[in-house]
Amino acid sequence: MQIIAFHNVKGGVGKTSAAVNVAYLASQAGISTLLWDLDPQGAATWFLSEDTPQPGRKLAPLIKGKSPVGDYVRSTPYPKLELIPAHQSARNFDIKLSQAGSGRELKQWLKSLSEETALVILDCPPSLSELAEQVMETANAVYVPIIPTKLSLNSWEQIDGFAKDHKIKAKRLRPFFSMVDRRKTLHRELADNRAKTLPRALNAVIPNASAIERMGEERKPLELMARRSKAAQAYRELWQEIRDKLKL
Ligand SMILES: Nc1ncnc2c1ncn2[C@@H]1O[C@H](COP(=O)(O)OP(=O)(O)OP(=O)(O)O)[C@@H](O)[C@H]1O
Ligand SMILES: [Mg+2]
Repeated sequence: MQIIAFHNVKGGVGKTSAAVNVAYLASQAGISTLLWDLDPQGAATWFLSEDTPQPGRKLAPLIKGKSPVGDYVRSTPYPKLELIPAHQSARNFDIKLSQAGSGRELKQWLKSLSEETALVILDCPPSLSELAEQVMETANAVYVPIIPTKLSLNSWEQIDGFAKDHKIKAKRLRPFFSMVDRRKTLHRELADNRAKTLPRALNAVIPNASAIERMGEERKPLELMARRSKAAQAYRELWQEIRDKLKL
């Protein structure tokens, strides 16, 4: 089983949009995929539910070891794609995880998942906390969407520094440019010169696109609503790079 995460200390940078689209593409490639919505805002849960999402389960029994993680897994409208929906109680997840003590809870829960699950995708809330630390220690790769602005590049430095402090291998943390608006000179310059501006960046660049914004209304992966768009193509490139790296 491979585990990847979409993470950034910054909010609203395209983590959930990438997580949902990559999860869908992986499942369509025949890979049994589980997306865990770790953000109490529940955006990924919303995107992957046709109707009002069933409320997720409280996380306390999981943390206390009273419920196995498998009890939290739900189906989605798509074959080979399962979901652990968000729950409001995830607001306190960090505090509870810190209190739980071992620092390895996430890793242990994921180990106990069914052997059929080939890929786990963690959609993380924006923070640098206990949960972020466990995500970085557990995931085979952490992908960090970066909007091409100076402030976003600063946030990348912050995450990279956090990872270094926690002895996470640099190659496991990969940034990629997100919400790139090519009408803006700065966006173009930073994204086109990514070998210099963001040396470990993936080649895939996610454009700023109204089709991606519309996912919130249509509640479908981009592949099902705007397959021919540049944005859908960009997510396919992102998935291909992730897939090549994981050798899935
Ligand atoms: N490439 C894009 N182009 C245009 N809009 C985008 C793009 N990516 C995301 N958005 C929009 O920006 C908002 C935030 O996106 P998303 O939820 O994916 O970010 P996030 O990093 O997960 O946010 P949060 O930190 O709140 O979890 C959403 O309304 C989404 O539709
Ligand atoms: Mg999100």
